Amino acid sequence: MTHHARVAVIGAGAAGLAATKALLDVGADVVTYEKGDRPGGLWVRDNTSGLSPAYASLHLNTSKGRTEFADFPMPQDWPDYPSADHIAGYLADYAQTFGVTDRVRFSTTVAAVERTADGGWTVTTEAGETDRYDAVVVANGHNWDPKWPSPAYPGEFAGTQMHAHDYRSADVFRDRRVVVVGMGNSAMDIAVDASYVAKAPVLLSARHGVHIVPKYLFGKPADATGAAIAGLPWKVRQRIAETMLRLAVGRPEKYGLPAPSSGFFQNHPTISDTILHRLTHGAVEPRPGIARLDGEHVVFTDGRREEADVIVWATGYRVTIPFLSPRWLGANPEAMPLHHRVFHLEEPTLGFVGLMQSTGAALPVVEAQAKLFAAYVGGRYALPTPQERRREADRVLARARSRWGDKRPAMRIDFDQYVASVPREIEAGERRLGSGAAAFSPASTAEVHA
Ligand SMILES: Cc1cc2nc3c(=O)[nH]c(=O)nc-3n(C[C@H](O)[C@H](O)[C@H](O)COP(=O)(O)OP(=O)(O)OC[C@H]3O[C@@H](n4cnc5c(N)ncnc54)[C@H](O)[C@@H]3O)c2cc1C
Ligand SMILES: NC(=O)c1ccc[n+]([C@@H]2O[C@H](COP(=O)([O-])OP(=O)(O)OC[C@H]3O[C@@H](n4cnc5c(N)ncnc54)[C@H](OP(=O)(O)O)[C@@H]3O)[C@@H](O)[C@H]2O)c1
Repeated sequence: MTHHARVAVIGAGAAGLAATKALLDVGADVVTYEKGDRPGGLWVRDNTSGLSPAYASLHLNTSKGRTEFADFPMPQDWPDYPSADHIAGYLADYAQTFGVTDRVRFSTTVAAVERTADGGWTVTTEAGETDRYDAVVVANGHNWDPKWPSPAYPGEFAGTQMHAHDYRSADVFRDRRVVVVGMGNSAMDIAVDASYVAKAPVLLSARHGVHIVPKYLFGKPADATGAAIAGLPWKVRQRIAETMLRLAVGRPEKYGLPAPSSGFFQNHPTISDTILHRLTHGAVEPRPGIARLDGEHVVFTDGRREEADVIVWATGYRVTIPFLSPRWLGANPEAMPLHHRVFHLEEPTLGFVGLMQSTGAALPVVEAQAKLFAAYVGGRYALPTPQERRREADRVLARARSRWGDKRPAMRIDFDQYVASVPREIEAGERRLGSGAAAFSPASTAEVHA
């Protein structure tokens, strides 16, 4: 790199740490802002940021071998599915090993990111300090702003309502009648935890069915099987995965759950072996969606009316980037198209790492995204023209819509295919550079010809 680009990274979770490392590797001058007092983001239980949803029983649901950073393997003596505390420690070690920790301004919340007249960016903190940068990486995570049902279900509930984000340990359920709403991974873990202490049975309310994947399939981590068939088209992988699941655990309907509303690899994977165990013991009982709330009762869409003390809304999270204006994000940040899921289409010095939903683990994806953005900032990678970027984004979105429907199509990433595509995209950018295409220049932050 001829110039030292000055780059701000917002967030020191897995994504921000990977971005900081990759940028340091290309010689950039990096400042990383982190609201909490340590690295690791959502894996740090009781993070001082107040943003982490991590609870006592949280473990990886993607296996160690498929989750670790390529640049930093997880210890061999760890189990296949390590705990949240393991992962928080791993991310802190990663940051320390690669000199990332020293670049982080902890307990510092970014309040605004704005464009400057000369084509750079300013980052302003809640404390009112402003610094100028040539490029910005947004890595603020998207699992911290609870998505409550909207509109709310009709009626009033006399008991306690909580969102999964605020769940920490099962004590809150002791001897209480509990309804858990949702079929994602939070709902599975919370229903299982509750089932050991709550008044039996815990009711699990699903308005749609999902495929439930056990952590082990045929004696191996389930996602290791995915790795073996990674090169095949997704529809072929779908047939194989659905057949294997049927052979290994049977259909969800056999457990009293609704049939999956979409095919495997067409929804976010729900991974749990313990939920099946608790269902078969009657400690958790399936219910359909909620029709209304009625004092001390929850009325389900099949007409059943059940007494309840606590409702846990495990209904997911909103994508929220409060420090960027809609000028950059559009009306809905979930729908924002990005070039290769990293570069803002209008202004590629605004990068996003981790603003995606992967069919597999997250860490290798954010590591690849970080390397792509760093290759650009380091002057090794030239982008396609703005028109080509727009056309490519439209093409990717159309394909995603036909696969994912309206379930966050812009954010979807097919894990193996995306991770494999990034080195190819970097090579393509090198070739574009070689033929005189536009490259990043920190001097003006405008694209100039190399
Ligand atoms: C409960 C749960 C379990 C999961 N399990 C798995 C799993 O098993 N395997 C897997 O691969 N993925 C899993 N994921 C996905 C997870 O999102 C990724 O693993 C990864 O940790 C996301 O990292 P991130 O850096 O994008 O976000 P985060 O970890 O959320 O980090 C974002 C960071 O930005 C900081 N920040 C936010 N706003 C500001 C601001 N304005 N100023 C300064 N700092 C700010 C936050 O404090 C935080 O430290 C899980 C997610 C959840 C919610
Ligand atoms: N490592 C782990 O073990 C672990 C544990 C927890 C979470 N996670 C991860 O954390 C992220 C968030 O997971 P999550 O489970 O919290 O959220 P999620 O995956 O978004 O799931 C939300 C669930 O709530 C349902 N839902 C949403 N709105 C609803 C409404 N108004 N009424 C009824 N149901 C509603 C959704 O079903 P519909 O299809 O009906 O909308 C879905 O089943 C995911 O990436 C997940 O993999 C991982």
